[in-house]
Amino acid sequence: MNAIYRWLLCAVIFLAAGLGASRLLSRENQTKSPNASAQQAVVDRGKYLVEDVAMCEECHTPRDDNGNLDESRRLQGAAIWIVPVHRTFNWANRAPALAGFEEFTEEQGEQILEKGIGPNGLEIQPPMHIYHMSHADAQAVIAYLRSLPGAYPQQ
Ligand code: HEC
Repeated sequence: MNAIYRWLLCAVIFLAAGLGASRLLSRENQTKSPNASAQQAVVDRGKYLVEDVAMCEECHTPRDDNGNLDESRRLQGAAIWIVPVHRTFNWANRAPALAGFEEFTEEQGEQILEKGIGPNGLEIQPPMHIYHMSHADAQAVIAYLRSLPGAYPQQ
């Protein structure tokens, strides 16, 4: 009889310890995961804006010989091949690399995407659009670009 009680007591203690430990572990996970998944949601939204809404790749990804986007060099910066119908004095002939977004601070990125003003204080040159993104959208685009591996050195 006594032995059975002792075993029961042991089992109860083990169960309690197990429960306590799993509680602690899940609490630790809870403090981490909501932030991580919220950040992932921002990056996912940025990816959607970049790829499906603002189509940044159309100009910032180089093309192969057939004129298709070169997916192996996504957002690595590209020569501009479209030409203006009317003579435009400040038409840019190159779109810089965006992958990694290391060349710009958060504020510069926001200024570019929310106001169309470059780090030099001048309006962004065509054919880059003057975007008027909301602050949250600009932050999402920047978060996505920063999540990409940085640009390879230009050849
Ligand atoms: C129609 C072509 C086109 C599209 C689409 C486009 N860009 Fe650009 N982008 C350019 C060109 C050309 C430049 C160079 C013009 C300049 O530096 O003023 C440029 C410049 C930039 C710069 C650097 C600005 C500076 O002053 O240094 C950033 C950052 C940028 N683009 C981000 C983006 C993002 C993010 C998107 C999508 C949301 C995008 N671009 C879509 C053509 C484009």
